[in-house]
Amino acid sequence: MHDPYAHITLPAGTILFEEGEPGAYAYLITSGRIEIFLRRDGREIPLAVRGAGEIFGEMAILDSDPRSASARALEDCLLVPVSEAQIRHRLSETDPILRLCLGVVMARYRETASLLKEKGVVARRDAPPAGPSPSAQADFDAAISAVVLERELRRALDRREFELFFQPIVRLGGEQLAGFEALIRWRHPERGLVPPAAFIPVAEESGLIVDVTDWVVAEVGRVMPEIMLAGLQNVAAVDGSLFVSVNVSGHDLARASFPGMICEMLRTTGIAPGSLKLEITESTLMRDPGSAADALTLCRASGMGIAIDDFGTGYSSLSYLSTLPITTLKVDRAFVRAMLSEPRDRKIVQTILRLADEIGIPVVAEGIEEREEAVALAAMGCAYGQGYLFGRPVPLPETLALIRSWNGMEPVAHRLPAA
Ligand code: CMP
Ligand code: MG
Repeated sequence: MHDPYAHITLPAGTILFEEGEPGAYAYLITSGRIEIFLRRDGREIPLAVRGAGEIFGEMAILDSDPRSASARALEDCLLVPVSEAQIRHRLSETDPILRLCLGVVMARYRETASLLKEKGVVARRDAPPAGPSPSAQADFDAAISAVVLERELRRALDRREFELFFQPIVRLGGEQLAGFEALIRWRHPERGLVPPAAFIPVAEESGLIVDVTDWVVAEVGRVMPEIMLAGLQNVAAVDGSLFVSVNVSGHDLARASFPGMICEMLRTTGIAPGSLKLEITESTLMRDPGSAADALTLCRASGMGIAIDDFGTGYSSLSYLSTLPITTLKVDRAFVRAMLSEPRDRKIVQTILRLADEIGIPVVAEGIEEREEAVALAAMGCAYGQGYLFGRPVPLPETLALIRSWNGMEPVAHRLPAA
């Protein structure tokens, strides 16, 4: 119908569509005004006027029902059509609760229009509810579980049900202990230990992630002195002084108070900023590059390390490597796992190592499970490794015991308790 690449011009007085027609486009109004109206008993009932900066014709696209009203140009208009596919794609990416809200608002408009159509008819109190469509039911179920999980997360924060586990990161070759990644676990009163994948996405969607990160930062501040002390009790097996890295989300970087909050923690605990690393995924960086860059620059200026997590798996450009103060790359476990059997993955790992070397930053290989992987990575010049071969994530007491008993060359995975 329309050239989807073009603006369309609609001269004053032109009808764009009539009530009851199927709709394939919504319209963004660049200039001019559009009148929305109903035709009843030979008369026109005006509903609204829409102008520049607004959208109309969205209802038929959102709920696939016919046009709820007619639309006419009140003056010469310039419109940009938005296709059904463009809107549907965005809708499918939306939070199910928002989709339910949209659905109910549209249904309300449509009900009002049909009441007008059948004059004198009012909504009957005893009328049975129409009932949700299958897709609305799915949204409803998703909404319920998100809302319940969200409430439980809030309660978990209040009741201190979270716990930090620590996974060792070692210097490859000598297998000296270099540091730990702090990983959150949720000790749910009924469901037991909940892995982060089951609750971090909901925490991010609901904005609760910010409170979760605050808790993680405070907890790291509380336990880091103990970790450092344990390191000092076994200097021979430790690579310099131990670091701890924490995972940070885009929501954290987006709040202006974040760098100050971490600096305050470091100041009050007396922990050297260089002992703390922030891990950020590529997709986090891409979501809001501006605020991420500001926050990371401040954190780096205070001395913290900045690691890119899951490097090579996000849909990102490499440009951030030149603009952001990155100090470490963590190669995703997918490459490490495939490296020994797939020459192509081995080449990718080699290329990442060369790239990191060129820009002068070390690499941590994630997900090392086999001795051969550690040996191959060390031979390729990879400085650090993390994975079950060296240890699973374990609670603080086991972590402290692990540091004190670490003896370098021999990976002690077989001695570690399973998480
Ligand atoms: P759609 O149903 O696709 O086509 C008619 C459009 O008119 C509809 O989308 C909305 O954009 C708009 N519309 C319908 N009812 C109203 C109303 N009561 N007030 C304002 N705009 C409306
Ligand atoms: Mg991580």
